[in-house]
Amino acid sequence: MDQAEQLRNIIKAGNLQRPVARVITVTSGKGGVGKSNTAINLAIQFRKMGQRVIILDADFGLANIEIMFGAVPKHNLCDLIYQGKNIKEIITWGPMEVGFISGGSGIVGMSNLSKDYLNYIIQNLTELDAIADVIIVDTGAGISDAVLEFLVASGEILLVTTPEPTSITDSYSLLKALVRHPRFSQETSQVKMIANKVDKEEDGQALYEKLNAVVSRYLKLPFGYLGPIPQDNQLSKAVMQQVPVSMQNPTAKSSQAYESIAAKLMNKEETVRKRGMAAFFSHILNGKKMG
Ligand SMILES: Nc1ncnc2c1ncn2[C@@H]1O[C@H](COP(=O)(O)OP(=O)(O)OP(=O)(O)O)[C@@H](O)[C@H]1O
Ligand SMILES: [Mg+2]
Repeated sequence: MDQAEQLRNIIKAGNLQRPVARVITVTSGKGGVGKSNTAINLAIQFRKMGQRVIILDADFGLANIEIMFGAVPKHNLCDLIYQGKNIKEIITWGPMEVGFISGGSGIVGMSNLSKDYLNYIIQNLTELDAIADVIIVDTGAGISDAVLEFLVASGEILLVTTPEPTSITDSYSLLKALVRHPRFSQETSQVKMIANKVDKEEDGQALYEKLNAVVSRYLKLPFGYLGPIPQDNQLSKAVMQQVPVSMQNPTAKSSQAYESIAAKLMNKEETVRKRGMAAFFSHILNGKKMG
């Protein structure tokens, strides 16, 4: 049995025995537009709705989530790979029992790992499907190969865009690189926009329509809209105090906006393809020409 086949068997077995988690990846073309705040506040809102949530911090440059949570993780994904830790040991439990896993630079180096290691990792990540209902992946900004790997492996991609002109053009460039990626499929990955730092609700809608006009015309990509997050001083204050605004000030206008976006994502009518963690990572590893 070759490695790819072994992986397929692990994934098949996992899918038959237990439910898979929903993997939602938060991304943006430009940096500093509000990805990490989106990831963390959606996590808190999902927790309030009774969901079990784990955030995977895949921004290898800066450890964003841990700073925003004010919690220091003991381990990261590298320790799973190189120190033989199991998945439960590398999860740090933050406020409201949101779990988070710090990526370290683990995933980038995965292409050099032996077969046994890869199987070990996949088997461990499959366990996340049993621990979490939703896994939120916070990516770095921009169009790097690593970010694109995460995006093509995700069932749901949330693109955070702000009204700044550079944010709009960078969002478009990111989507263009995504649809051109050899392993991107419209059937398995849905892309939806969140308009952040808007002054009025109409501004968010206008921003979406502007981007969607070029996306549907030139990229032929179905592109949804989840709604606006207002520019909110309460959010900046919460960031300074290292507490997610949804916890520190649940009635702040930004908290309410996160709540309504979380509700939209959890709406029963919303058809999502859950791919699960094992499928997510095997997709990434397959891209690295293993097996
Ligand atoms: N809706 C908002 N209202 C007010 N300030 C905001 C809002 N969203 C984000 N910010 C500000 O922008 C800063 C950057 O946000 P965040 O860290 O979430 O962005 P990011 O996209 O994750 O950045 P990076 O690309 O560096 O990872 C925050 O520290 C906060 O001060
Ligand atoms: Mg960030």
